[in-house]
Amino acid sequence: MKVRKAVIPAAGLGTRMLPATKTVPKEMLPMVDKPAIQYIIEEAVAAGIEDILIVTNRAKSAMDDYFDYYPELEDRLNAAGKDRELAEVRRAADLANIFYVRQKETKGLGHAIARARRFVGEEPFAVLLGDDIMRARTPVIGQLIQAAEKYQCSAVGVQQVATEALSKYCSVKVEPLEERIFTVSDVVEKPRREQIFSNYAILGRYVLPPGIFDVLEDLEPGVGGEIQLTDGLRRLCKREKMVAVDFEGRRYDTGNIRGFLEATIDFALDHPTTGPWLKRFLREKVREL
Ligand code: UTP
Repeated sequence: MKVRKAVIPAAGLGTRMLPATKTVPKEMLPMVDKPAIQYIIEEAVAAGIEDILIVTNRAKSAMDDYFDYYPELEDRLNAAGKDRELAEVRRAADLANIFYVRQKETKGLGHAIARARRFVGEEPFAVLLGDDIMRARTPVIGQLIQAAEKYQCSAVGVQQVATEALSKYCSVKVEPLEERIFTVSDVVEKPRREQIFSNYAILGRYVLPPGIFDVLEDLEPGVGGEIQLTDGLRRLCKREKMVAVDFEGRRYDTGNIRGFLEATIDFALDHPTTGPWLKRFLREKVREL
């Protein structure tokens, strides 16, 4: 079982980032010098993924344009001797084989992933949510792929979240299997207090079998009237083995302003051209507070 394909659902409406996301997809908002989605594509590529499907919608064609060549701009950069900029612009277009499909109606994450059926075919595939950005020594999706290949089953990326925050995520019922890896026997979306299984929540990374498509197509709308991936995972884990990987790395929910700012600041602090300046700037700011 080799995971060669990834699906990035990026067709959400981004209502937590309005009004900025009215016309600019949240995945295209810059984090230092790259749009958020590029970090996700780079994570997939670093984990050995070759083919990537982005699930988009009619308001998000800026993404397709970004991963395309732009001859007029490249000629201009070339003539001006701006080699570094030229290389960066080209690199984005050459990162992977990128495919697109539109989710014609915003019916939820499970519905978005179901659009990938023809692209995926009959092999296991990775899913990386378009607004969850990870910083890790080993790509987070690579950590999941390793576990999925070892146990020959699906894998979900989890971390512990505070009890008060669980109602925004899902809660996973887990049994220890080995260090940082658990068997999953149940999962509930946006749980009320009495429904909580554990503080482990799934955070934006999955390795799924092609069998998930039949499950998703059979689902009724769940929480919020949407086709919920979590409901599909619930059925799947009762039918076949699924593991949860307590992944090493920091996850940023860049779909809300706070997570977006945290990621931007952390990435800018690490970036060679902005890091030293930002440290001085922040020190001055802190003194003023
Ligand atoms: P979110 O829960 O972040 O929803 O979706 P959203 O619509 O993008 O943002 P808000 O809550 O309105 O601010 C989680 C992931 O599922 C994708 C999103 O693009 C994001 O990657 N998604 C969600 C879809 O692709 N289609 C949908 O119908 C819903």
